[in-house]
Amino acid sequence: MRLYAGAKAVFYALSRSATLKRLASKYGMRTRESFARRFIAGETVEEAIETARYIGTQGLLLTLDYLGESVRTPDEADTATREYVRLLDVIVASGIEANISLKLTQLGAGIDRATCVDNLRRILDPAQGHGFFVRIDMENSPYTEVTLEIFETLWQQQYRNVGVVLQCYLYRSEADAQRLNALGARVRLVKGAYREPKSVAYQQKSEVDAAFVRIMKLLLDSGHYPAIATHDPAMIEATKTYAREHGIATNRFEFQMLYGVRRDLQAALVREGCGMRVYVPFGREWFPYFMRRLGERPANVGFVVKSLFAEG
Ligand code: FDA
Repeated sequence: MRLYAGAKAVFYALSRSATLKRLASKYGMRTRESFARRFIAGETVEEAIETARYIGTQGLLLTLDYLGESVRTPDEADTATREYVRLLDVIVASGIEANISLKLTQLGAGIDRATCVDNLRRILDPAQGHGFFVRIDMENSPYTEVTLEIFETLWQQQYRNVGVVLQCYLYRSEADAQRLNALGARVRLVKGAYREPKSVAYQQKSEVDAAFVRIMKLLLDSGHYPAIATHDPAMIEATKTYAREHGIATNRFEFQMLYGVRRDLQAALVREGCGMRVYVPFGREWFPYFMRRLGERPANVGFVVKSLFAEG
């Protein structure tokens, strides 16, 4: 059995290198062919909207993510919050589908919980007015509980245009799925993108996959419009089979994939009549997100090198 966490650990370490970040930022988005463009829609909201429009023409749903995480000061959290509020206005004006994803450390979860809750409310209020759904991404395990607690606080305050993410590699996630199902909350299920120790997370792919299937069944049985977010054909097949065998209609859940990953599978699911949402990230702070994508599939390094040589 291969060690699932090995590549993630290497790319996680590299993602903290300031030199590599400087170099990547210089070359990664320079032209439409530059390597980071494969996974990131652009650095500006206008570029993201252009990509979103194209995605819409393919019969795909979408969620826009303004990249950023781990801000260090309340001012930075305030700036990110303002950017999201501005993003809502731009999306409304553009007429594309209203659905966004965000990270709580971008809004100050790592600084002070109350500031983060206030910032999130500043986004959810106008989002609600415009009929937006807001997905709170899940970050590394020091933030799991605080993310769920903040989500639950807002749920108790009657916000219903918001959902959260569970990572099946964490041992705790089956219990969390039951906790969220009991609320009637919308959950996105993923395998998990961070390097986590074995004290909290499965390390082997086979264990992670088995947990994914267990939680997928919990969500399909008693969840509320869950999102099954994976590029793994075995997980997708397991989901379709379980739904078919238990009479769960395809409009009671959706699949989700990342921009630039397995476009063939995305199109195939649309053809089969499944809901298929693409997660479209954009913004200047793309480096950590990009490194997580390389960590999931080290073969992606090949296309980075190829694109650098192609640009000369
Ligand atoms: P797995 O990693 O086992 O890959 C299965 C197959 O998919 C591979 O063999 C390959 O063919 C293809 N593939 C996977 N990743 C690829 C890549 N980067 N490039 C090319 N091919 C690739 N994580 C998290 O911790 N918090 C979050 O909030 C989110 N949010 C999120 C939203 C959405 C819509 C998706 C699809 C994923 C996330 N993730 C996430 C990331 C998730 O945790 C996970 O790291 C990736 O989805 C990769 O896992 P797979 O389920 O695809 O399986």
